Amino acid sequence: MKSIQLNIQDALYFAEKQYEANGAAAVEAITKLDKGTGAGADFIGWVNLPNEIDATLINKINATAERLREACDYVVCIGIGGSYLGAKAVITALSDSFADYYAPAPKSPKVLYAGQNIGEEYLGELQKLLEGKKFGIIVISKSGTTTEPAIAFRILKDMLEKQAGKDAAKDLIVAITDEKKGALRTMANEEGYETYVIPDNVGGRFSVLTPVGLLPIAVAGHDIAKLVAGAVEMAKATAHPGPDNIAEVYARMRNALYESGKKIELLVNYNPKLHYFAEWWKQLYGESEGKENKGIFPAAVDNTTDLHSMGQWIQEGERTIFETVISVNKPAISVRVPENAANLDGINYLAGKNVDEVNKMAELGTKIAHVEGGVPNMRIELEKLDEFVLGGLIYFFEKACGISGYILGVNPFNQPGVEAYKKNMFALLNKPGYEAESAAIQAKLK
Ligand code: PA5
Repeated sequence: MKSIQLNIQDALYFAEKQYEANGAAAVEAITKLDKGTGAGADFIGWVNLPNEIDATLINKINATAERLREACDYVVCIGIGGSYLGAKAVITALSDSFADYYAPAPKSPKVLYAGQNIGEEYLGELQKLLEGKKFGIIVISKSGTTTEPAIAFRILKDMLEKQAGKDAAKDLIVAITDEKKGALRTMANEEGYETYVIPDNVGGRFSVLTPVGLLPIAVAGHDIAKLVAGAVEMAKATAHPGPDNIAEVYARMRNALYESGKKIELLVNYNPKLHYFAEWWKQLYGESEGKENKGIFPAAVDNTTDLHSMGQWIQEGERTIFETVISVNKPAISVRVPENAANLDGINYLAGKNVDEVNKMAELGTKIAHVEGGVPNMRIELEKLDEFVLGGLIYFFEKACGISGYILGVNPFNQPGVEAYKKNMFALLNKPGYEAESAAIQAKLK
């Protein structure tokens, strides 16, 4: 795919032998994903998903989005983990950085998030903002039983019903959940909400190209057909093994570096709009690979901001890290540094340059310094930030994640470790059915 390029030259010589050695495992991984013969094969619906999203679904989602856009000044997306990060990543990447500070324009509601934490102040402040306002809710939970979104939904649904009336509230709520199971499905059927289904064979963190991501992204005013088209293009480009398959190359390189002792991957951006893309990526790789006491630790920095906080560690700390830089070729806006006769700040040598030229030199200078300091560097170059490129980038990381997990030798599509905290929390809150766990945990706390 022309608009997304991967360069591994500054990483390869750190782990060339390991890279050569894992070629066969990568081919095997791609075959497993293609034929559904690997671990967790019940959850690889995302592999062919972009091709299966037809115009009927896109039109239906756009119609729902338009309805919410007409009726609301604010739309709250309730969900956690894979049920919100993808939408937030794309919406943040495509939106004006200061969108939150403009009053909502007619037909472009602000998209807000809830249920991604259990912050009382967060929810209280959200209620304060929504008081007396026209708002709607998109509630997303595949299992339909996750505690964080369930609490937020109960609170905001109650508020909406009181403000708009129960009948009107019903039309302002859309539920995205399992086709048959879970409390959210039961509630949606009982109340008569419009619903969308999360396919059974697509796990939360791979669900951004389902209604989970597409509806909020459409509500925010972005072109979901273009997003899907980008994913389709990347699916084609990464379907078969070979040196041009950038998902395979990335998956092999990161595993080769891991085997050579580089245990932490930093996803680096030089564009603040990509902050939440990194959050989405961290979840995708963290939940997919961190198991059986294995897995690269996925971390992220926003540069150049974090060069002034984490830069020292990256340059001279323990040599267990490598970097994957996402670099955007063309900014959508041009801002130049002006000439100043007095030159008291001493930066006239930059006068006439675009800000991005300075940013690119910061990136290049950082790469040279980090590579010389023992930090391997991979670089993903995006032609620009738009729906098509982001769709391609999402699919690229998903495909690479599947390949990478299989090379590592884990099931990338389960998340057994996430249950441990839930069990303890339910026990501490005396959830019915957890009586034995409650007694055991209270004994531990004595
Ligand atoms: O990737 C995953 O499966 C998880 O991160 C889930 O998305 C997250 O736990 C939310 O689950 P649910 O959509 O069932 O509420």
